[in-house]
Amino acid sequence: MEDIQRTKVKDLLKMAPGADVLAKGWVRTKRGNKDIAFVALNDGSTINNIQIVVDKASTDAALLARVTTGACIAVRGKLVESIGSGQAVEIQASGLEVYGDCDPVRYPLQKKDTTFEFLRTIAHLRPRTNTFGAIFRLRSQMAFAIHEYFHSRGFVYLNTPLITAADAEGAGEMFQVTTLDLENVPRDKKGRIDYSRDFFGRQTSLTVSGQLEGELGATAVGEIYTFGPTFRAENSNTPRHLAEFWMIEPEMAFYDIHDNMRLAEDFIKHLVKYALDNCYDDIKFLNDRYDNELIARLQGVIDTEFKVLTYTEGIEILEKAVADGHKFEYPVSWGTDLQSEHERYLVEHHFGRPVIMTDYPKDIKAFYMKQNEDGRTVRGMDVLFPKIGEIIGGSEREASLEKIEARIDELGMSRRTLEWYLDTRRFGTCPHSGFGLGFERLLLFITGMSNIRDVIPFPRTPKNAEF
Ligand code: 4AD
Ligand code: MG
Repeated sequence: MEDIQRTKVKDLLKMAPGADVLAKGWVRTKRGNKDIAFVALNDGSTINNIQIVVDKASTDAALLARVTTGACIAVRGKLVESIGSGQAVEIQASGLEVYGDCDPVRYPLQKKDTTFEFLRTIAHLRPRTNTFGAIFRLRSQMAFAIHEYFHSRGFVYLNTPLITAADAEGAGEMFQVTTLDLENVPRDKKGRIDYSRDFFGRQTSLTVSGQLEGELGATAVGEIYTFGPTFRAENSNTPRHLAEFWMIEPEMAFYDIHDNMRLAEDFIKHLVKYALDNCYDDIKFLNDRYDNELIARLQGVIDTEFKVLTYTEGIEILEKAVADGHKFEYPVSWGTDLQSEHERYLVEHHFGRPVIMTDYPKDIKAFYMKQNEDGRTVRGMDVLFPKIGEIIGGSEREASLEKIEARIDELGMSRRTLEWYLDTRRFGTCPHSGFGLGFERLLLFITGMSNIRDVIPFPRTPKNAEF
């Protein structure tokens, strides 16, 4: 059987009939009559299956009985024209081998129970479904598109550390990293935990963002991007939050907030277009199966100019909506952080297109954002998307040492763990900007899924770290 090379299903489906081929994969379904069996085989290379036609008279019945849903098999045969399988070609089997049996009774993936909630409880097997195969192929393609976008524009891919002593966002939502014996924590004379005896000789955590180190890169090589996992111990059980998520953070010297906005809009449009151009089969499957406005929504984002408005203007629109009788769950007034219901009202209801909101109150944004003349707002920019709310958060950075130090003190943050970062402002400081795109939020948009747990292979959320 192994005297010829195996061909992937994706390639088989594009071949002309006539060749002798070898296919390997997992059985999706088996049906048939007393003379022949039809097996739908999938190897994950495409959403589509190849049909295998098995002649029962010339096949060992005991062997064919082992070909059940979920079993892993190899099939040798002739690629022939197919009538009525929905594909151009199928395999007329001449040889069959079972690599792995799959007990149809014990197999957890059953046709009758495929709710997303249930599939999350068997996250180790859900990639075998059509839906998750499509999602994880899309995820991989988008990662590639991101690298390609920045590389073709001369950005340097910078790897920033996952273990850090600094709280980049200043929100105190860090997972601590320690090798101290938690049953017997060493203490100093004042009774405080003695971190000098910890692995790194100081208190450390998993990073919430690579931005601070990214700024060091940008102020040296000009334009960088990071792409890696980030960790947040925020206890938010929402369809848009993960405790471990992936973020793309470009950071650019000599960009002001307008350059930053232009890059963010171009970047995200490029990614959506890349998905439609290169992953159409998977997107079409998701569109037809779950959300028949998906493709139109993706095309809509590519075709429209994002609406730029200030936070203050946004609040005025929302307050007017409330005055006109619109009910929000959370109150809204100048100074409050917007909830995703507010963001979505602006995007979906008021403007009908993505929104870039700028100039937020300084008290709801991080210490590093450039301070405006008015003394109460900063040059932050969030990109707000239909169905998602915030997909990108970024800003022009405060370049003045005095101003950024004053802000750190005002917020009661520790300057000691940030001295290395402040050197960017001490030695040849420059105007610069950057943003962070949440990779899973992007994937929510591109796949049309409604829960962020369904666009990452093994989600980490409060009380959930199985698999
Ligand atoms: O707005 P955030 O917190 O910004 C930063 O971390 C900056 N350091 C970025 C920068 O300027 N370099 O997060 C950026 C994006 C959000 O817009 C959102 O898409 C995503 O990261 N994000 C999350 N995604 C999933 N789960 C969470 N808990 C997330 N928190 C933020
Ligand atoms: Mg944000």
